[in-house]
Amino acid sequence: MNKLNIGIVGTGFIAGILAPAIQSSKNAQLSAVSSRTLAKAEIFAADYPGVVAVEGADWLIARDDVDAVYVATPTAAKEEVARRALAAGKHVLIEKPLHSKQSFERLSALAREKGLVLMDATHFVHHPRTAVMRERCAELIGAPRSLHTMFYFPFSDRDNIRFDPDYEPMGAVGDMAWYSMRAVVEYLAPEVLEDIKVFAEHDRQSSAVIRATGVLKFDSGKTATFDVGYTAGAAVMDLALAGTSGILTQDDFVLDWHSGFGFDNPDIQTGFVHRSGMATRKDFVFIETPSEKSQHGLMIDNFANLIRNGDDAARETWLSATAKTQGFLDAIWREIQSQG
Ligand SMILES: NC(=O)c1ccc[n+]([C@@H]2O[C@H](COP(=O)([O-])OP(=O)(O)OC[C@H]3O[C@@H](n4cnc5c(N)ncnc54)[C@H](OP(=O)(O)O)[C@@H]3O)[C@@H](O)[C@H]2O)c1
Repeated sequence: MNKLNIGIVGTGFIAGILAPAIQSSKNAQLSAVSSRTLAKAEIFAADYPGVVAVEGADWLIARDDVDAVYVATPTAAKEEVARRALAAGKHVLIEKPLHSKQSFERLSALAREKGLVLMDATHFVHHPRTAVMRERCAELIGAPRSLHTMFYFPFSDRDNIRFDPDYEPMGAVGDMAWYSMRAVVEYLAPEVLEDIKVFAEHDRQSSAVIRATGVLKFDSGKTATFDVGYTAGAAVMDLALAGTSGILTQDDFVLDWHSGFGFDNPDIQTGFVHRSGMATRKDFVFIETPSEKSQHGLMIDNFANLIRNGDDAARETWLSATAKTQGFLDAIWREIQSQG
């Protein structure tokens, strides 16, 4: 079967991470890249022989050799680029976060109407670890009751979009609590948010949110806490899922140390730790979940596979997870905004 031809809109940081993953995919390939400035697209495309450089998203979307569009722009531009791509009959892989749940629902309605795939670009859900932890959760820890996530990386470049609320309205919340909320959706699987409290720290110069901590209470008494930001001077990606008969933990839940982008440590296994009873550290059990390739590489394969072989139910599963994640993120954001 022919490979899926993907065009990338945007030539920034994450576009540069995904382009090689697309090129090395078994069922997709990169066909074009667009920038608002042709010269930037040409510089980007020069690393990928045969890839066409285009000025402006509309010209990329209109190309016959583009079956699907990867939207790698700041949040402020995502909906409009994705809307145009879907309207033109192109499948869409869209960067997280969205502007709001309503924004995502406008896009998902259009994708359904056109019979197209719309998927968000969260990497960790594609690692086999996520499926294994979900499958073994009841057996290992009983019913999941509480999830804690802590995600920090040191970052202080005020020229970056993360410090510009016009580009990234939710700042570190959209950038990082997205993963906390996606972990809630994947591992805690609540239905209804009943209560929430959030504390946020803003950058004095830009007013961007640079750190946030919060607690969410869901139906059936499930709870989640999160702590995210750029300000701790260290990278941390901790997750702890507490059930009724044990606890599962990860210390690299967003980007696995083994081959998540930014890390390349073949000697660090990917997996999760199981603990129960009055166990000490020497009794903890590490459950390894190896992967044949990086989680962002798997995301590209799964996106292409969903387009070629996925049924409506499979497509809806992805749409539902994105909508729930964005809905919880919006609740965090409303709580922060309500504090003025
Ligand atoms: N999934 C992940 O693991 C992951 C990781 C990092 C970032 N992200 C997300 O990806 C998004 C982009 O982040 P980034 O770090 O790649 O940012 P970035 O380095 O600033 O790149 C964004 C690119 O989008 C293009 N762009 C900027 N403004 C635009 C506009 N108004 N309309 C159309 N295109 C525009 C620019 O390319 P041109 O100048 O060439 O047009 C720019 O290089 C963010 O929302 C971020 O949260 C996701």
